[in-house]
Amino acid sequence: MLLFAGLECTSEEVMSRTFHIAIDGPVAAGKGTVSRLVADRLGFLYVDTGAMYRVAALLGIKAGVDLQDESTLVKLVGDANIEMRNPTSQEKDGRLTTVLVDDEDVSWEIRTEKVGQGASIVAAHPKIRQVLVKKQQQIAANQNVIMEGRDITHKVLPQAQLKIYLTGGETIRAKRRHLQLLTKGQDVSFEEVFTQLLERDQRDMNRKTDPLKIIPEDWVIDSSDFLIEQVVELIVGKARVMMGD
Ligand code: DC
Repeated sequence: MLLFAGLECTSEEVMSRTFHIAIDGPVAAGKGTVSRLVADRLGFLYVDTGAMYRVAALLGIKAGVDLQDESTLVKLVGDANIEMRNPTSQEKDGRLTTVLVDDEDVSWEIRTEKVGQGASIVAAHPKIRQVLVKKQQQIAANQNVIMEGRDITHKVLPQAQLKIYLTGGETIRAKRRHLQLLTKGQDVSFEEVFTQLLERDQRDMNRKTDPLKIIPEDWVIDSSDFLIEQVVELIVGKARVMMGD
């Protein structure tokens, strides 16, 4: 008998089991960067669920739809073919994941502040969440994944073997987000980024459907206390122990 994620199983069972790492946390806590690096180290698929809510917002904005109009947005999302994959060697331009909508590469278009704000409005619609949560569960069904978002530990993958809440101080997170936007050539002040970050946190934590929260099983990591590489090391180490590596 072997131990896999704390359970006794045969080697065949170990092979057939999938290992899921679920990460939740507020805006700019480093979830994306950490998840990408952990996925590369463990050979897991990285799934950025925030990108899916961003796509929903982008579709609405492009179609000139009011982002409060849930039923039109659900139809737009249902009609679109959304594909997410690891960046190919030609796409290695700093992106963490490649996102295609009807074969069009929107990986960068979804990263603006406007789309981010829109995503947090769209993410409050229960029917949008229902459609996207189902997609996320289908992706994770038969493979090892590290999936990050706001409701992964308690809604999308409640059976995940490793559940993490990655957080960080508000100022540090806003500085990180500000730098990211400046690097991408977006002209935005720190004060603007800071205010928008607080607004998004509030919206994500206070919405009625599956708000961002810490659950008792979460391993809470404050990224302000560590370098990104140290957080990656912590998670990879713990996952390996749990998988019996
Ligand atoms: O992580 P992000 O900034 O790309 O997410 C964009 C928005 O989508 C964010 O405001 C919260 C929302 N979101 C969510 O409600 N549930 C998820 N699982 C992921 C993101």
